Amino acid sequence: MPERIPLARPSWTDEMRQAAMDTLDSGRWVKGPQGRAFAEEFAEYCGVKFASPCNSGSGALLAALRLLGIGPGDEVIVPSLTFIATATSVSMTGATPVFAEVESDYWCLDVEDVARRITPNTKAVIGVHLFGQCYDSALIGRCQERGLALIEDAAQAHGASIIIDGQTAMAGALGTVSCFSFFPSKNVAVGGEGGMITSAHPDIGARIKSVVDHGRDGTLQSQEVGTNMRMSEVFAAIGRKQLVHLDSWVKKRRSIASKFTEILESNTLLKSPSIRPNSNHAWHQFCIQTASAERFIEHLNRHDIDSRLVYPTPCHRHPVYADHPQAKDEFSTTEHLCKQLVAIPVHHGLTEDEIKRIHGAIQSYS
Ligand SMILES: Cc1ncc(COP(=O)(O)O)c(C=O)c1O
Repeated sequence: MPERIPLARPSWTDEMRQAAMDTLDSGRWVKGPQGRAFAEEFAEYCGVKFASPCNSGSGALLAALRLLGIGPGDEVIVPSLTFIATATSVSMTGATPVFAEVESDYWCLDVEDVARRITPNTKAVIGVHLFGQCYDSALIGRCQERGLALIEDAAQAHGASIIIDGQTAMAGALGTVSCFSFFPSKNVAVGGEGGMITSAHPDIGARIKSVVDHGRDGTLQSQEVGTNMRMSEVFAAIGRKQLVHLDSWVKKRRSIASKFTEILESNTLLKSPSIRPNSNHAWHQFCIQTASAERFIEHLNRHDIDSRLVYPTPCHRHPVYADHPQAKDEFSTTEHLCKQLVAIPVHHGLTEDEIKRIHGAIQSYS
């Protein structure tokens, strides 16, 4: 029997194991050289000046909202097609998430729908690079025009980029503050929970480290309310080793995705994801759109391939938002996609044999 093909398989090599052991042996388990170096190397990778490792992608979102001073009475526009943390991070600050519709082709925030939902209370927009594909760069200009901060939820987009005015801009440099997750299934992981905040703005940069460290400055005086959202040194050491491989891993994901797309062309029951022009997808997820999601998932299951409906419930329909003013609103594109998007394995750890098995399963689905 061949082994089942998982949706994610974190990379764990001898160099990562050694980096973890060396860090433990050093006795410097928190607030040390690994975290500082990881911040510098990650900022450089994204092409920004400032970064701070933190405890998770959700922690990064919360920190970003606090960096922007968002709280009770404020509104923050978010997509309803995303992981729930995009919305609940806003609720955690006492502000209100205002849900907006996504594009029917690229599945990121619909810029026109965002514009319609701006009120005098709107302080920011959280754009998500869904499944590793960057949001429409028009969102950046639109937020600037309206004086809104743009929080970039890049939790799924390490290594993604977009071309703006002829220049390549990496995920992590496409918002006022940007947030990454190192959850084990992500394109870069750290051996546990972790996240990163990045920014190009000096006023944000001045507080980017203290926001995850009790709001303390260099003299250990707390300048603002904060808590401990730091990353451990061991995780930073592992993350540094992973970051070195990010470009080659994303390249492999792109080549797997491109072959999937080619094979999908001949299957009229399945639709491959559309790629935004002038952008480089990081393929955190490869989601096939199909009207018969359950039947397709069962078919893959019989071939020992993991797959799942990626977000079966739109965020505004989760029980946590039962009393939200938009709880009963119709978001037809989002709701349609929630029933139809099936994630299949596209990770860089897939072997040639596994890739062929996935091709075979797609080809035999009728
Ligand atoms: C779009 C998005 N935002 C935020 C998060 C939260 O990240 P974490 O699980 O590291 O808290 C995730 C994680 O899956 C995500 O996919």
